[in-house]
Amino acid sequence: MTARLLTLTRPDDLHLHLRDGAALRDALPWTVRQFARAIVMPNLKPPVVQVQQAVDYRNRILAALPAGADFTPLMTLYLTDATSPQLVQQARDSGIIHAFKLYPAGATTNSDSGVTELKRIYPALDAMQRLGMPLLIHGEVTDPEVDVFDREAVFIDRHLVALRRAFPALKIVLEHITTAHAADFVRACGERDDRGAPLQAATLTAHHLLHNRNAMFSGGLRPHYYCLPVLKRERHRQALLDAATSGDDRFFLGTDSAPHARGAKESACGCAGCFTAVNALELYATAFEQRDALHRLDDFASRFGAAFYGLPRNVGSVTLERADWQVPASLPYAETDIVPLQAGDILPWRLSSAPGQRADT
Ligand code: NCD
Ligand code: ZN
Repeated sequence: MTARLLTLTRPDDLHLHLRDGAALRDALPWTVRQFARAIVMPNLKPPVVQVQQAVDYRNRILAALPAGADFTPLMTLYLTDATSPQLVQQARDSGIIHAFKLYPAGATTNSDSGVTELKRIYPALDAMQRLGMPLLIHGEVTDPEVDVFDREAVFIDRHLVALRRAFPALKIVLEHITTAHAADFVRACGERDDRGAPLQAATLTAHHLLHNRNAMFSGGLRPHYYCLPVLKRERHRQALLDAATSGDDRFFLGTDSAPHARGAKESACGCAGCFTAVNALELYATAFEQRDALHRLDDFASRFGAAFYGLPRNVGSVTLERADWQVPASLPYAETDIVPLQAGDILPWRLSSAPGQRADT
């Protein structure tokens, strides 16, 4: 019997954490195997706030690429209370910065320098709206009074609705959405820019499409399923699967692969983040298959995100094969090791060609 094959245009990961130094060296090749480009998150320590920092970080990423790799990092800057309209203009002029990332201060890993009050960045947002520079949002309130499972929905109601109204032509990506409420919010915004691209979009991770919050507590505490925004109820997972497989171009792939060494996860106070760069496409294919929607994966992974960002579609392809494959228990990472999502599990799809290495094409 011949194996079932699924060929996709080389995809883009529109939300990725690559880290720096030895961690970058060990995380990057996994993404390069699967993706042609990635929107690279700026939450380093210290965060990437100036254009020159992004230029330097991009050079470090390019220097860390495996020999012959064909991969383009798409850089972002980290918004702070001090981000000025002039900086937005410089970022646009740089040609290498594709978006600004808004972390509410304290919302997640390395977000201490984030924005304390949205009004403070209104001049910067105004410049972004004018220049067509997208705003990427980690959409969670940090108010300790708000239940951790409600933080995304409360952010939308308390902040995003008003922000959207104040900047109707701003391109916004609500990152790694986790709730039916977020998917409904995105669907309710039908406006488009003059290229016909949506003004409001959202990224979806593989882990939020495949798992509900039970995964964190199945038979004990499972730190490798802990990320932010945290996994939600099954009802929300179903709503996210609806969005991802609907063929709606406002929903596209962003893994939010967020590597942390095993010791930082398996700890009394474990870091948030799921490492999915190793098996991202296999996980998404598994999720889409649950809805018999594999024919929709190419648009979700390789077309809608590029169109939103005004980028050409990638050339070349990657092929997945319907064949069982065991996710490694752990992998080398920054002189220690790292546990990928679903380590040890058998996945029904396997990446069979990896043209991210130019030598293979
Ligand atoms: C991310 C990280 O570790 O950098 N963690 C996560 O749980 N997703 C930060 C983020 O995107 O929230
Ligand atoms: Zn992230």
